Amino acid sequence: MPDDYCFITKDSLIVKAPKRSPLFLRMVVLIFSMVCGLYIFSVCSKQISSQTVENILNIQVIQKSCEMPEIEPSERLYVNFPKPTTFSREECECNPVRSFAILSTQRSGSGWFETLLNSHTNISSNGEVFSVKPRRSNISTIVETLDNIYNLDFNTSASMNECTAAVGLKWMVNQGLMQHHEEIVDYFNTRGVSTIFLFRRNLLRRMVSILANSYDQNAKPLNGTHKSHTHSSKEAAILSRYKPTINTTTLISDLKLVDDMVKKALEFFKGTRHIILYYEDVVKNQTKLMDVQDFLKVPRRDLSSRQVKIHKGALSSQVENWHDVKKTLKGTPYQSFLVEDHKG
Ligand SMILES: *[C@@H]1O[C@H](CO)[C@@H](O)[C@H](O)[C@H]1NC(C)=O
Ligand SMILES: *[C@@H]1O[C@H](CO)[C@@H](O)[C@H](O)[C@H]1NC(C)=O
Ligand SMILES: *[C@@H]1O[C@H](CO)[C@@H](O)[C@H](O)[C@H]1NC(C)=O
Ligand SMILES: *[C@@H]1O[C@H](CO)[C@@H](O)[C@H](O)[C@H]1NC(C)=O
Ligand SMILES: *[C@@H]1O[C@H](CO)[C@@H](O)[C@H](O)[C@H]1NC(C)=O
Ligand SMILES: *[C@@H]1O[C@H](CO)[C@@H](O)[C@H](O)[C@H]1NC(C)=O
Repeated sequence: MPDDYCFITKDSLIVKAPKRSPLFLRMVVLIFSMVCGLYIFSVCSKQISSQTVENILNIQVIQKSCEMPEIEPSERLYVNFPKPTTFSREECECNPVRSFAILSTQRSGSGWFETLLNSHTNISSNGEVFSVKPRRSNISTIVETLDNIYNLDFNTSASMNECTAAVGLKWMVNQGLMQHHEEIVDYFNTRGVSTIFLFRRNLLRRMVSILANSYDQNAKPLNGTHKSHTHSSKEAAILSRYKPTINTTTLISDLKLVDDMVKKALEFFKGTRHIILYYEDVVKNQTKLMDVQDFLKVPRRDLSSRQVKIHKGALSSQVENWHDVKKTLKGTPYQSFLVEDHKG
């Protein structure tokens, strides 16, 4: 249409031509064609922009159709319909996906716990994502990393599949979580991320595990390879042969440090949707794993892990200077760590 209009006016100009000077005429033609050009340009760009608006509307319609009526309004915040750029969710495109974070401390069974979760077809936990320092250098890199994970775009070996219904990570509280707790709680509450606290009740056992693990890191009794977790009971027996000596001068303050950190983490994140688990309870009582699945709103399954516990039996047989340790902890708030019965 605009093209026709331009040709017609050019023709009528030519008819009138002889009355004016050639220079003036050329100027008129030039200005006219410029105006025409601008007009065509503006019409075309309007068409392009209205097309993109239509596209956006279409996308919104598709996303809307994913919101299934059985999701209660109070639950809406906690579900997403991610559109990962790295793969297609195919037949599960409209299955809601929930976001979670396992907040824990080192040597508290979180590795074992995570393999249990990942044995569920609909759960994908990406491991200790923030053990990589650049990812936790500031709140922007943290948010960027979390966005990637919760959009199913985080590329790890985690058993990601198109029917993942709960996606998350394992996050040690000393990995930037405490420094940036305000922003992270804010992120969790606006993006609907659920918190799974996983701590160990017996911090003395945890300490033995840390000491043994760091011994193993240096001595490597298994053929020169370091293993912080093991899948064979023979290996576990070799690893547990080592009995650490605990420094009794710093024992109480070391235990208090961890105890305080755990209490602080619970305090900071208590405003998020959360569940609190203790490693010892999960080991003793498999029903806790059903609680977790209900919490993540995934179908209940029997979860399994091939990991074998390294330290079995009485704590007294695992510490070189047990008598000193006992004397040090008697009459302190940590006395119960000496007597607690943990058959594992
Ligand atoms: C955050 O850290 C990244 C990587 O270390 C850096 O490139 C970026 O500039 C930092 N951003 C802010 C706001 O400090
Ligand atoms: C994801 O990881 C696989 C293998 O580790 C690699 O081949 C692939 O290119 C990665 N994809 C992206 C988008 O980074
Ligand atoms: C769980 O995964 C299966 C396929 O592995 C899929 O059919 C099912 O819809 C998924 N469940 C949820 C709640 O997404
Ligand atoms: C040590 O390595 C040898 C040869 O690679 C292998 O046959 C053996 O099973 C290994 N032992 C353990 C305890 O891993
Ligand atoms: C215990 O730790 C303190 C402080 O780090 C240190 O000064 C002391 O030598 C340690 N004692 C033993 C027996 O290793
Ligand atoms: C096991 O866990 C379930 C769910 O948390 C709880 O109701 C039950 O009392 C526990 N059983 C024992 C023996 O502690």
